[in-house]
Amino acid sequence: MNKILTIQNLKKYFPVKNAWGSDVAFVKALDGVDLEIESGKTFGIVGESGCGKTTLMRTLLRLVEPTSGSVILSEQIIGDKVTNNKLEELTSEELRKFRRQIGVVFQDPMGALNPRMIIKDIVSEPLVIHGKTGNMRNRVIELLNNVGLGEEHLYRYPHEFSGGQRQRIVIARALALDPKILVLDEPTSALDVSVQAQILNLLNDLQEKYDLTYIFISHDLSVIEYMCDRLAVMYLGKVVEEADTEKLFSNPQHPYTKALLSATPSFDKDKEKIMILGDVPSPITYLDESKAKLATEMTEQEKLEIKAIEGKGIDYIVRSSLNEVVPLVQISEGHSARVK
Ligand SMILES: Nc1ncnc2c1ncn2[C@@H]1O[C@H](COP(=O)(O)OP(=O)(O)OP(=O)(O)O)[C@@H](O)[C@H]1O
Ligand SMILES: [Mg+2]
Repeated sequence: MNKILTIQNLKKYFPVKNAWGSDVAFVKALDGVDLEIESGKTFGIVGESGCGKTTLMRTLLRLVEPTSGSVILSEQIIGDKVTNNKLEELTSEELRKFRRQIGVVFQDPMGALNPRMIIKDIVSEPLVIHGKTGNMRNRVIELLNNVGLGEEHLYRYPHEFSGGQRQRIVIARALALDPKILVLDEPTSALDVSVQAQILNLLNDLQEKYDLTYIFISHDLSVIEYMCDRLAVMYLGKVVEEADTEKLFSNPQHPYTKALLSATPSFDKDKEKIMILGDVPSPITYLDESKAKLATEMTEQEKLEIKAIEGKGIDYIVRSSLNEVVPLVQISEGHSARVK
């Protein structure tokens, strides 16, 4: 496997402070994530709100400092002259170079585009920041053509475009510095279904044209199935299952993966239904252990819900707090899950 990035035991704990400013607890947003990202492929990350997907992306870009752990960069990204290939040990100049190699596309294109700037300036912004101002107008037109827009759009403002077109502008800007990797954090979830498909197809075309590696974050499993070669399912800051997309969809092992898959709409009446009960357990770990139990105990309401469901042919799982951490085991080649 031609690895472009290797993430090793990455942790990010956000401190929770009391009114006096001292730490009382930690939110374990990332709690020991290991991933290998293959070059030229699409790696998917799924999991429900708050499981740490965006934090993973932000730590990868060094927008937040990780608590511990390592990101190993391949020669492809860092060039062969550099002796140091650990992201956390790069000098600020090396970090600047590294950032050029990763383009970012967020969920909300309107939030990502400055409403007071014209498209020409928005798309050329990274070129200006990195001092690549030669022949800039033509480069911007080329970038717009790549995403299905053109010269006629140069002097318009973001509000004069549709949601899908705005996301195209964001993609054009993300590609301005010829990155090797694109990080896509829910790139289509704010869009209409018909426009979603266009954007996904555009991304597939661009990947082929420029041999891009995608890290694709989504909670929409049908989008993930369509786009990704391999994926990791995250739950409370940990990867609970990882496999090639086909394997994971045909043979899910972890109860949480099974529940996620069973929740996708289907016309198959016999499809197994699994319900997830209760709220997501708190990712907070209290420094004072007596408080920790309160956050993870099952409530009376949850116990009642289980009673009501029993006997109706629906399987159920109760959210576990992951207090007892089950190690990842290998199910088959390239497929691992936290199951006993
Ligand atoms: N800067 C921060 N300070 C404190 N806690 C944070 C910070 N950023 C994120 N968190 C917490 O870390 C956890 C993971 O958040 P994150 O944004 O990574 O989730 P996510 O998987 O991207 O969710 P969503 O699907 O809603 O975007 C959450 O409990 C969140 O409240
Ligand atoms: Mg997020």
